[in-house]
Amino acid sequence: MENVKIIELPKILDPRGNLSFFENSSQIPFDIKRTYWIYDVPGGETRGGHAFKKSTEFIIALSGSFDVILSDGENEVKHSLNRSYYGLYVPSLIWRRIENFSTNSLSLIVSSISYDQQDYIRDFDSFKQIRNEEKTKYSF
Ligand code: TYD
Repeated sequence: MENVKIIELPKILDPRGNLSFFENSSQIPFDIKRTYWIYDVPGGETRGGHAFKKSTEFIIALSGSFDVILSDGENEVKHSLNRSYYGLYVPSLIWRRIENFSTNSLSLIVSSISYDQQDYIRDFDSFKQIRNEEKTKYSF
């Protein structure tokens, strides 16, 4: 899936406790506009189930674990996140859902844009159509 990638963050090992970080925009390939987090997820629940027209995101399992399922409309890949020093970079126009949250998991997500309801594509068929239009325009 084009441009989706796991990014390993700096890890400062210390007997007092380890430290990791990311900074606008050295570790991740965009300027951070917004941060949100998902927590207290009841067992078996799924979050997401949409794509973004413009927003690109970086997703980290700050605590616990969960699976991020990505689709380009044709192929699906699963990334299991379970370390706080790895994050998943998800460009725009990729369908995504997050599931299999462990108890007390904490998912941190940073986005390249401010919250904009208009940026969401919530219907999978519309998503595939928009992707196909973009594909034709930019031939990717
Ligand atoms: P949404 O992104 O739709 O959640 P999910 O991806 O799990 O389906 O967000 C749920 C609600 O939270 C939605 O009504 C809008 C609100 N929200 C904000 O106000 N700001 C934000 O940055 C986000 C991500 C959501």
